[in-house]
Amino acid sequence: MSTFPLDALLTVAEQVRADFPIIDQASSSGSPLIYLDHAATSQKPLVVLDAIQHYYGCDNANVHRGAHQLSARATEAFEAARAITSGFIGASSPKEIVFTRNATEAINLVARSWGDDQLKAGDEVLLTVMEHHSNLVPWQLLAERTGCVVRHVGVTPQGSLDLEDFRHQLSDRTRLVSLVHISNTLGCCNPIQEVSTLAHGVGAKVLVDACQSLAHKPIDVRSLGADFLVGSSHKLCGPTGMGFLWASEDTLKAMPPFLGGGEMIQDVFLDHSTWAELPYKFEAGTPAIGEAIGMGTAIRYLQSIGLDAIHDWEAELTAHLFNRLQSIDGLKIFGPTPEQQPDRGALATFVVEGIHANDIAAMLDLAGICIRSGHHCCQPLHRLYGVTGSARASLSFSTTHAEIDRFADELVSVINFFRENS
Ligand code: ALA
Repeated sequence: MSTFPLDALLTVAEQVRADFPIIDQASSSGSPLIYLDHAATSQKPLVVLDAIQHYYGCDNANVHRGAHQLSARATEAFEAARAITSGFIGASSPKEIVFTRNATEAINLVARSWGDDQLKAGDEVLLTVMEHHSNLVPWQLLAERTGCVVRHVGVTPQGSLDLEDFRHQLSDRTRLVSLVHISNTLGCCNPIQEVSTLAHGVGAKVLVDACQSLAHKPIDVRSLGADFLVGSSHKLCGPTGMGFLWASEDTLKAMPPFLGGGEMIQDVFLDHSTWAELPYKFEAGTPAIGEAIGMGTAIRYLQSIGLDAIHDWEAELTAHLFNRLQSIDGLKIFGPTPEQQPDRGALATFVVEGIHANDIAAMLDLAGICIRSGHHCCQPLHRLYGVTGSARASLSFSTTHAEIDRFADELVSVINFFRENS
């Protein structure tokens, strides 16, 4: 385990790599494995694995139920994870953090609870064309249930949010603006503060999908100005099966429950029930206790490195990644360059003329390099760009310049191989 604070003479990657034994392995071809798919899921440091093992090995019990010591310890660790999550995003209270299975479930919670309760035929939900399917489909289902209208803001030729189009489409019919903070495909970082101010000006609420930003830069929900924010544990060095919704206590209090069952009730009668206090009103059934503890530990780990240090190191890596990719003939990157948008995400999504993205990813895998190919759960965006899929290399604070160089060199070899053999 690294010792923090960071040593200014070493890079962030040099100081954290030993925390991730998974990235120090040989690939099936014998060459060192290079993992550049952190946007799909992050790797987990040893402290997170240890925390989960400790919970199951020493403290395992159900939470909020037992009078015994194991349940007390499990409850304490589980609620500590909520407090850590609350502090991480600058929430006012842990009561504002609802644990969910993932960010997708958190968005569905808002659509089912707030959406079903508040929206009617003719009301508008304003999304963007760059949204992940998790921020498209729940609103389509809501539109089917309520008759509300779903609209989509476009992107600029540079591949950033088209604010002019946003201003044009925003109206007094808009009840909710729901958008991604950092796009998992374009990598652009959307101006949430500006969007929130404009949306609030017409009385609309704002939901932010922060899955691709939470592990990469400091986030403060109050300064973002949004009304809802969702996040996913497995994208921030925590385990899968865990996510969260943030909203203010007033907003959550006004929302009806999403799922019904144990834990979310105060009293149950045969013909009706009353609801538990926040946030338990939205947490039906036994929660993912070990996963919550794992997420809390992951957040503490990120905080111990420092989100500013992570952001700065990843910005340097991203500039290097773009430099290398931009020099490859016939390769086109989607989204703004680091020069155009210095706070863009640490990833590059690209297509290569005449070569399918899946073939590129499969050939790179043979060389021990893991990248993602396909539509990245953003089919409408890919349709807009006239492609069925793209390749994506996504970075982490554990990534090195040497890994990016080996990826770029192998990519050039793969492209040459296809060009010579087609
Ligand atoms: N949303 C994840 C990705 O972008 C799965 O790869």
